[in-house]
Amino acid sequence: MFTIGYDVGSSSIKAVLFDVLAGIPVASVTVPDTEMPIDAPQPGWAEQSPLMWWEYVQQATRKLLAQAPQVPPQAIRGIGIAYQMHGLVLTDENAYPLRSAIIWCDSRAVAIGERAFAALGTQACLQRLLNSPGNFTASKLRWVIEHEPSIYERAYRMMLPGDFIAFRMTGKATTTASGLSEGALWDFQNNEPSEQLITYYHIRRELIPELVPTLGWQGALTAEAANLLGLAPNTPVTYRAGDQPNNAFALRVLNPGEIAATAGTSGVVYGVSETATPDPQMRFNTFLHVNHQPAQPRLGALLCVNGTGSLNAWLRRNLCPELSYTAMNELAASVPVGAQGVRIYPFGNGAERMLGNCNVGARIKGLQFSTHTRAHVLRAAQEGIVFALWYGMKAMQQAGIQLATIRAGHANMFLSPLFGQTLADLSGATIELYNTDGAQGAARGAAIGAGLVSLEEAFSQLQCICRIVPNTERQSQLQQIYAEWEEVIWEN
Ligand code: XUL
Repeated sequence: MFTIGYDVGSSSIKAVLFDVLAGIPVASVTVPDTEMPIDAPQPGWAEQSPLMWWEYVQQATRKLLAQAPQVPPQAIRGIGIAYQMHGLVLTDENAYPLRSAIIWCDSRAVAIGERAFAALGTQACLQRLLNSPGNFTASKLRWVIEHEPSIYERAYRMMLPGDFIAFRMTGKATTTASGLSEGALWDFQNNEPSEQLITYYHIRRELIPELVPTLGWQGALTAEAANLLGLAPNTPVTYRAGDQPNNAFALRVLNPGEIAATAGTSGVVYGVSETATPDPQMRFNTFLHVNHQPAQPRLGALLCVNGTGSLNAWLRRNLCPELSYTAMNELAASVPVGAQGVRIYPFGNGAERMLGNCNVGARIKGLQFSTHTRAHVLRAAQEGIVFALWYGMKAMQQAGIQLATIRAGHANMFLSPLFGQTLADLSGATIELYNTDGAQGAARGAAIGAGLVSLEEAFSQLQCICRIVPNTERQSQLQQIYAEWEEVIWEN
């Protein structure tokens, strides 16, 4: 018995073929070879083609099957989809996109969300949506209503990126409660799509897709999709979650007090709780976790720094295209802590939620041509990302979220020992790195959702491969550098 898990990110599509009974991945691929483009038709906008994602999902599946010729398609018993959150996909009834997807880091709807927050009232929004409507999917849809009415009129359903992939696979437009919560469209008190925001934004009710469970039967592959993917018709789709709740799930972060982190294109710290502790300043957000039930609430407090791996990728493209990420990490570690005065503010990837949804842009400070090399810039970037995360983590701590142990996959920027150690030293948290990633999480979710194994069995082979313990001597030095960094955070 096997399952496939996909992680539909903004820079690539990862897929894993998972041996359910052994509890381990048997093949894994990432496509394309170079990072997927993000289009910016105007400054602050970010769009991607949903059909590009679908094309790469097909390529990834075919490559995956080619890596494991011993696995017949009929042995694949479930499909799980993790996806970049908060995006908006509008399609016709044939799952054909009516425009490019407006993705998570697109800032165009910030003002719309702010107006809605003021009009609906802070208390009402925090109690029912757990968030400001902010720059999330509902506000992006309102932007389309206002600026592209003819597209809006033709829309059959509004979808998150993962809903679109599932629609292409199953021929049915569906979404999840957790998905609607990440779009600010879930009424947490009434446990239903938010009539309040739907009415306020004048969203046609029928645009909201039918609800399916996060873990459970969501539909089955059509003959056409099966043919395109090289899989068997009727293979069930049995798990779907936003990439950050899914990352937490991948690390078995499911219960109050448990904390997960990622450092991919964006960097996230994600804490599970039973009761909502929304931040009125919206420095972190609260969404329904994958295992949320009205009778047993499980909420994810999510701090996001948009400019994380996206900054590192920018530096690679523009400063050291001949280096691998491993070589960049080594170069960064070759200069002392504090990068001899170079400071980087990594805010160049759209409106940063923890900065009141301002798109402040990135900044390099303190560069001296006689002293510094690109090694200093690379180190300052990794330190700057940690500083930005710490800025938001302090707000989480103020809200009562304990950050003593943080679990992360041994992937992306956590492959840099310097990055993990700096985060541990500054925050005082122990970082545990596990042998997993988002695609493996989605594959495990698919196995549980298909009823093939229990949670215990699905995670039997999840292992902590490295514990990064904070160095207390380094902490005060880093705190001082951080304090200087924070002092001029708004100076842009
Ligand atoms: C999370 C967020 C990003 C995207 C990246 O709230 O906006 O981490 O999910 O894909």
